[in-house]
Amino acid sequence: MYCAKNTICCGFAWNFRVARCCGLDLLIRPLLACVYLISPRVISAVRQLSRSVSMFSYKISAEIKLRLLEERHAEQVFDLIVEDRERHPELDKNLSLDDVKKKIKRDLALFADNKGLNVGVWEQGILAGTVRYHEIDWSNKSTELGYSVGGAFEGRGLITKTCRVLIDYAFEGLGLNRIAISCAVENQKSRAVAERLGFTQEGILRQSEWLQDHFTDIAVYGLLASEWRAKNISSSSAFL
Ligand SMILES: CC(C)(COP(=O)(O)OP(=O)(O)OC[C@H]1O[C@@H](n2cnc3c(N)ncnc32)[C@H](O)[C@@H]1OP(=O)(O)O)[C@@H](O)C(=O)NCCC(=O)NCCS
Repeated sequence: MYCAKNTICCGFAWNFRVARCCGLDLLIRPLLACVYLISPRVISAVRQLSRSVSMFSYKISAEIKLRLLEERHAEQVFDLIVEDRERHPELDKNLSLDDVKKKIKRDLALFADNKGLNVGVWEQGILAGTVRYHEIDWSNKSTELGYSVGGAFEGRGLITKTCRVLIDYAFEGLGLNRIAISCAVENQKSRAVAERLGFTQEGILRQSEWLQDHFTDIAVYGLLASEWRAKNISSSSAFL
């Protein structure tokens, strides 16, 4: 987005210099003023258009659909968390609907800047869970997966299936090279997701996170694009 803005502005500056050389700047100046006045509108329209064009949605099956999380989904996300809050020791105990809205808004801004993706997993029209890229590190072509599923939807493979789509998209659609998953060592279900997907445990960060009342060790898993391609007949064509 910033590139688009800069390109437009640089283009104007260049045109203006050329016109000046040719003695046309008196004619051009009012015209430029108009363009500068409308350019924020143009830029915002281009932004909106590019957002709507690149909205992420994906159908895993007739029952399971992925969609970019938007502010209008905040209530469903909040309900999913509060229904079984004890499964989320990492979250603030006083988390409110407003906090969830703000978080979704921040994630949408990251998505618009091509730095993140936070999708909802809908099963038969009901929000069952969420899977996200924590911020994409473009200089190192890497990201980290985070996920959560409602207690009632656990044990059906929804998160593993969704992660497969997001891993494929990260490697084949976005051209990333590495994906990490970090989870508390005692979180066996989360570790099982990473291992089922072929991630390698790379280490344990000792007492790395404060969880409510104690420090917890964090297991770090990693998966490389080359490993993913070697193990999977990629469905990459969907993202090209
Ligand atoms: C971590 C968490 C997302 C794992 O949920 P999950 O339901 O076990 O994960 P999946 O949706 O991938 O389902 C896997 C289970 O479905 C089963 N399954 C059924 N069909 C499947 C399929 N087609 N593919 C894969 N697994 C399938 C698997 O055998 C597994 O069950 P098991 O654990 O009894 O062996 C969930 O426990 C959770 O939300 N916890 C709270 C938040 C959290 O800790 N997030 C992680 C932070 S790092």
